[in-house]
This record gives sequence, structure tokens and C-alpha cells, in this order.
Amino acid sequence: MRLIIIANRLPIKLGRSAGRVVFKRSEGGLATGLASLHAGFEIHWIGWPGTHFDSEMEQGHVTALLSRHSFHPVFLSQEQVEDYYEGYCNNIIWPLCHYFFAYIQYDQKALTAYREVNRAFFEAAKDLIQPGDRVWVQDYQLMLLPGMLREAFPDLSIGYFHHIPFPSYELFRVLPERAEILRGLLGADLIGFHTHDYMRHFISAAYRTLGLNCELDEIRFVDRLVQVNAFPMGIDFNAYNQAPKRTQVQAYCKTFRQQLGVQKLVLSVDRLDYSKGVLHRLKGFASALERYPELLEKVSLLMLLVPSRATVPEYAELKKKIDQTIGELNGLYATPNWTPVHYYYRSFSPDRLMALYHVSDIALVTPLRDGMNLVAKEYVAAKRDTPGVLILSERAGASIELTDALLVNPNDIEAIGDAIAAAVLMPEEEQLARLRRMQSLLARQNVDKWAADYIEALDVIRERNCVLREARIGDAHLQEIKQRYTAARKRLLILDYDGTLAPLRQQPEQAVPEARLVEILRRLSSMPGSTVAVCSGRDRETLDGWLGNLPVLLAAEHGAFYKEEGVWHSVTQKFPVWTQEILDVLERTTSQTPGSRVEKKQTALVWHYRNSDAWLADLREKQLINALMPLCARMDLHIMRGNKVVEIKCSNQNKGTEVRRLVSKDQYDFILAAGDDVTDEDMFSVLPPDAVTIRVGDFSQTARYSVGSQTEMLNFLEALARQEENAG
Ligand code: UDP
Ligand code: G6P
Repeated sequence: MRLIIIANRLPIKLGRSAGRVVFKRSEGGLATGLASLHAGFEIHWIGWPGTHFDSEMEQGHVTALLSRHSFHPVFLSQEQVEDYYEGYCNNIIWPLCHYFFAYIQYDQKALTAYREVNRAFFEAAKDLIQPGDRVWVQDYQLMLLPGMLREAFPDLSIGYFHHIPFPSYELFRVLPERAEILRGLLGADLIGFHTHDYMRHFISAAYRTLGLNCELDEIRFVDRLVQVNAFPMGIDFNAYNQAPKRTQVQAYCKTFRQQLGVQKLVLSVDRLDYSKGVLHRLKGFASALERYPELLEKVSLLMLLVPSRATVPEYAELKKKIDQTIGELNGLYATPNWTPVHYYYRSFSPDRLMALYHVSDIALVTPLRDGMNLVAKEYVAAKRDTPGVLILSERAGASIELTDALLVNPNDIEAIGDAIAAAVLMPEEEQLARLRRMQSLLARQNVDKWAADYIEALDVIRERNCVLREARIGDAHLQEIKQRYTAARKRLLILDYDGTLAPLRQQPEQAVPEARLVEILRRLSSMPGSTVAVCSGRDRETLDGWLGNLPVLLAAEHGAFYKEEGVWHSVTQKFPVWTQEILDVLERTTSQTPGSRVEKKQTALVWHYRNSDAWLADLREKQLINALMPLCARMDLHIMRGNKVVEIKCSNQNKGTEVRRLVSKDQYDFILAAGDDVTDEDMFSVLPPDAVTIRVGDFSQTARYSVGSQTEMLNFLEALARQEENAG
């Protein structure tokens, strides 16, 4: 089983030293987390090697070196690094997703480079992909890639994981290319986030930007379902938990203890990034020293900052401010026996890092925003059975799981100071109990489980998409249906109107039948042995006005009325009485929902909300149904949710009752029914299993086939008409 991971970075970074190519572990949660996967896959990794290699010879050499580890490099030019990586990824998307709005430096050139580099990753992937592979695209640097892959490989299993926060719609919408980015992401079968908040924001952006149909955690996109879900990333728990038993790590622990020599050590580990809240953290530490003098000479902060994106101006400026703040803090508080802040600006080897985790009494992890934050999890695991306290920002994804940490608002300087003081005073027993609870969660939800859960969900949604694809009317189905159609003596075609024969319009009265449709209906209904019925929710007058001149049967208001041989009949004599109470509820909902309106039919009232804000309409729809339920139950009325409508009608007729009536009138040997809405499911469900039932533009539990759009439906009907005419 092959898993192709595509990420901007490979798990190792290449560099040059004394004219030779050297390897280094990549920092950052994505690389460290994914690199520790033990899942039972043959893993291939496509990514940028992190250094610029100019000559083809050097690139060839690097490719050969990396291929031994199944790493496949994508080489970027210096300009691409500047415009794509520093520009679009880290000057636009990173600040946007971390709510640093003022840091966004929008630049069209950067977007062009982003598209170009996503395309370069696609080119690298396309040669590697084999049938049956799973492709897992990682993170915000490659948001257009799933769409590119989907276009070239409609059947491929494609996952995408977003390792950073996904911002609220209000922020996301500032991106001029927001629709393009969303369409790119929706090329995946499964889109994963660390938390349900990010997932919620993404779904909201998809339905508000693209107007897509979203049902809970599923988005209907073109001819597929895209599942969106939260999968909080775990760590290689055993590696961190067992580390303190290793001799090398023990040796480092001893050295650190001797060198640092204070009673309490507070650890801070991050890439140097403005999202990590380093300045706030330093101020929080200073606040603890100032307000709790008993901590002086007793507590030191060890701050490890890993150089990151240093060529992006905000990062370089932040570095200066941090250096200055640490200098001031040490200048103010240091004594001959005590250094308040030990500062390292470099990266540590895994063993030294694990030793630091193990010996630290407190971990201070206070990002202003962080998708997950693995450092917090690594600290908890590496403590093993020794006491320790995790102080964690409530704005880090990890805070959803690590509820036994001391949770703080990272903007609240005094709260950080108080948490440090509380951690110092916390009884050892409580520290151990909190750690144990968090460790037991991290041991279960480790990185392998994370990947396995993700891949399992990917397989499930892909399987469903395969079933849906098979239901799509393609050439093979069409041939078979055409043969049955021609061979039949008596045919019945039952067609819904809006959304099936004509596209849905902003205003319902605009959905006038086009000439092509009229012609197709005329041809189909003039075939000997063929009966065509249009079965709609529309009222009689509209249907008569649009289709009354054709030799087709008509059914209006979901089968409450039908027209045969030029005469309208009513199925029921019992028309509902719209009480003032019901009308008031509808009136109130309409006035509170701009863009919505009420349609009054003889047997039904319909609340239309196609032109309203999606979120508001969703809320009002629920409120409306809640308010109507007791009233309608009392009057034996039915409440039905359709495509951007809520309909209140008599409970004794629907499209199913009309279809039963039609079918019972003759011995048909070919029955076809097509519709696009939930009300059409009533038609499909009463038909015999060999009927050709077609859902247009959506997926159905009951229809055997589907087509993507009204145009495809018309093409299909035209093909049937042509077949019969040719046969005749
Ligand atoms: N890390 C590292 N070397 C260091 C310091 C940190 O490899 O010197 C790793 C650390 O173990 C963690 C990752 O960098 O796995 C940081 O991930 P996190 O999710 O905390 O933040 P990110 O950098 O992804 O924003
Ligand atoms: C975060 C991002 C990763 C990124 C990492 C390090 O974890 O989610 O995609 O790789 O930071 O950043 P860098 O820019 O060095 O790759």
C-alpha cells in the first residue's frame, strides 16, 4: 500500500558545508510529526529540499541521494522561494490564518508564483502516482494542488491536511482569490483540520463563498462529496516517553541540571515566529518576577528559539525585539548567582531537546495562535513519571485535548505571571496526576493513530465517491438505457421541472423553458407509445403558461392537481386553511430574513430563501420549522425542506402519490423518472426497481443514476429522442 505525502518541506533539510551537501532534520510540527509515522505504508515523500540547487548536475546528485529514502525533491529557484514561499505562503496565508491581518502584504506576483509552484509539485507527483495510491497533500503551501491532481486523476484518492488554523469567514473573504483557493482544496476527498473550530470556519467559507450545499461535515462539490473533519495530530509518544531511559539523554539531563543550577526551570521552545507570542511570554515571566518576589533567584526561563523564515521582514524585526527584551530583563533582574533568562537562538538535536523537556519543571507554551502545537505534547510525554506543569495557551489547538494543563489567555500578561507562580506552588501529587491523565490521552492518540484514523476516513469517503461515480450516467449506461427505451412498447417519462429541465434561477418566474427544452419535450411526447409527464411543485397557471401547448401530462403542486386531455383535476377536495398563526410565523421569518419571500399556492405555502445570506437562512429555517411544528401537527399539515425552500402542505399527497396514479394507468415496460430535489425522492421510491431513476445535480439514496446538471439531463433526453427517431 503506497502513501504519497506531498508537503512543501521534506522531513530533512539540505544545506552545503565545505562544498558538500549535508542533511539536517527539518523543524516544525508538520515535518517532525509526519516523519515519525510508523504506519504500515510504503511512504513516498515529495517536497522542497530547503536549499537552492542551481546546476542540473547538483540537482541530479541530490535526487539520487534522496531517492534512497523515497524522498522526491521539487527544486525551487531563488525567485520562487522569494515569491511563493516567503511571499504568498508566509507574507499572506500565514498571517491571514493566524489572524495577523496587519502583517499581510498582498502582492499579485506572489500569487502567480504560488500557482506556478503548486503546478511544479503537481508535475513531480504526476510521474510518481500509480493506480491505487493514496495521495496526502499537506498544509497551506499547497492548497491548489488537490484541485490540480483531481483534474488529472478523477479517480485518485486525495487527502489534504491543514496544519495551521483556518480563519473565520470574515477574515478569509479578504483574499481576492478565495474561490480559487477553496476550489483547489475541494479537489481532495477528505480535508482534515486539527480542531472542529477550523473545520467549522472552512465549511462556512465554502458555503458562503461558493454557495455549495453542505450537510453537516460533507460538502457537495461538482460530482463528488468532500468530507471535512477534525483529526488532532498526535506525537510519537513512545519516542518521547522512553527517551529519558536512554543513556545519551540521561547524560544531557545531568549536564543541563548542573549548568542551569536553579531550583525551578521554566522551558520555552518555538520556531521564532510572531504567532508564538514570545514577547508576551517574556513580559509574562517579567510580571511573575515583579509580582512574586519570592521567585527571584529561584526560577529561570530557558528560551529556545529555532531560526525560522528569517528573510521575511516581520520575523527579522521580531528577532531584534526579542533580543532587546531578553537583554533588558536580564539586565534588570540578574544577580551573580542567577540568570533569569537563558537564551538559545538555534535548533537542538532531538536527544538534547528531549533531555530539556525531561528536566524542566514547567513548560510555558503560550502562542497567540497555533494550529496544534506539538511542543506541548512532547513535553508532557517526556516528563515520564517525574513532576512537571504545562502552562498552555487556550489559543493553541492542543488546548482542546490537554485540559489538564494550566490554560491561559496568551494576551493576558498578568495571567501568564500568575500561572507561573501557581505552577511553582502546585503540589507534586497534583502535577503527577495531571500529567498522567494527559499522558494516557497522548499515548492513545499518537501520531500513528492520527494517520490511521485519517486514512481510514479517506478510504470511506473515497468508496462513497466511487459508488457515486458509478451512478453517473456515462456512455455505457446511456447505451443500455437507449436500448431498453427503443425496445419498449409503452414508455412513461416523468420529469420534474425546476432544477431538472430548467436551471434554478434567482427569481422563480425567470425559469421560463428555453426553446431547446420545448423542442425536446415535443419530440419525446410525439413518439408512438410514449407518455411524458411533467411533475412539478409549481402552480397550475405557471405550468399551463409554459408547457400547456405541448402534448405532455402536467402535475402541479407536487401532485395535488393533474392535467389530462386538457382538463385539470384536483386530487383532494380538502384544501388546507392557512390560519393567521401560520401566516404570522411565515411573515415574521420573512421580515427577519432579507432576500426571502413567501409563495402562496392553493395547497401549499412556500418560504423561499435562495437569495438570502446562507448562514442567516440556515438559522431562520431551523427557527421556522421549530415554530411551525406544533401548529402543523395540530392541523395535520406536512413541513417539507427542499432546495432552499420550506414548504407547508397537506400530508395526503406528494409526488409519489401522483407517480403511483400515472403508473397504474397502463402497462408500461419502460419507466423513467428524473428530479433534482428531496421532493423527487418520493417519485423514485414508489417506482419498481427496474425503473430508470435519475437524480440531477446531486446524490440520492433512492435513484439508480445521477447526472451532473440540467444541461446533461437535456443532452440525455435529446439522445433518447434521437435514438427513437433514428430507429423509426
Ligand atoms: N523542534 C526541533 N528542534 C528544535 C526545537 C523544536 O525539531 O530545536 C521541533 C519540536 O520537537 C516540534 C516542532 O519542532 O516537533 C515544533 O512544532 P510545533 O507544532 O510546536 O510548532 P510549529 O513549528 O509547527 O509551528
Ligand atoms: C508550521 C507549518 C509547516 C511548516 C513549519 C515550519 O508547522 O504548519 O507547514 O513546515 O511551520 O515552517 P517552515 O516555513 O520552516 O517550513
